[in-house]
Amino acid sequence: MTKISLLKGDITRLSVDAIVNAANTSLLGGGGVDGAIHKAAGPELLEECRKLNGCPTGEAKITKGYQLAARHVIHTPGPVWNGGNRNEINLLHNCYHNSLELARENGLKTIAFPNISTGVYGFPKDKAVMIALFSVNQFCREFPDALEEVVFVCFDDENYDLYKSILIK
Ligand code: APR
Repeated sequence: MTKISLLKGDITRLSVDAIVNAANTSLLGGGGVDGAIHKAAGPELLEECRKLNGCPTGEAKITKGYQLAARHVIHTPGPVWNGGNRNEINLLHNCYHNSLELARENGLKTIAFPNISTGVYGFPKDKAVMIALFSVNQFCREFPDALEEVVFVCFDDENYDLYKSILIK
């Protein structure tokens, strides 16, 4: 049975097998959580990312964690919200599913997610939380022994309150 946890804080400080980065398709860094992860990991992360030749929206690629407490970083570009008629819901689901699948393939047991696409990319937080929870629950039902813990890390109060209202009855 996979433990689902909720934390408020900075994902770069977590000592887990992998933290997920809400990246962009270039994988060459940016602002928000992407910027924080690259800053905390150090320049070697960007060096490895350069060799990955980018990543399409909804897919995921894995690197080492370097100076991060986490052993690995799983980079997944989320969809930019454009009103909901550009397959955004399915693409956000793919971000969670493909990140979990990559963790499973690499034998990782603990993984932490930020609130993908809900910052710069403008995905409505109340929709994103349902997609995140549905995707993780669906994966854990399909592969009940794959992961020991999935941590949702919220940096802002709005996301935290949304996750808390659903996860903590
Ligand atoms: N730890 C955890 N979560 C964080 C942190 C952090 N240190 N910093 C920011 N966040 C949260 C934001 O509060 C937001 O809820 O991450 C969530 C995602 O926001 P963004 O980082 O803006 O990511 P996203 O909306 O997916 O946009 C991605 O922004 O930084 C660029 O290169 C990135 O182009 C890409 C785009």
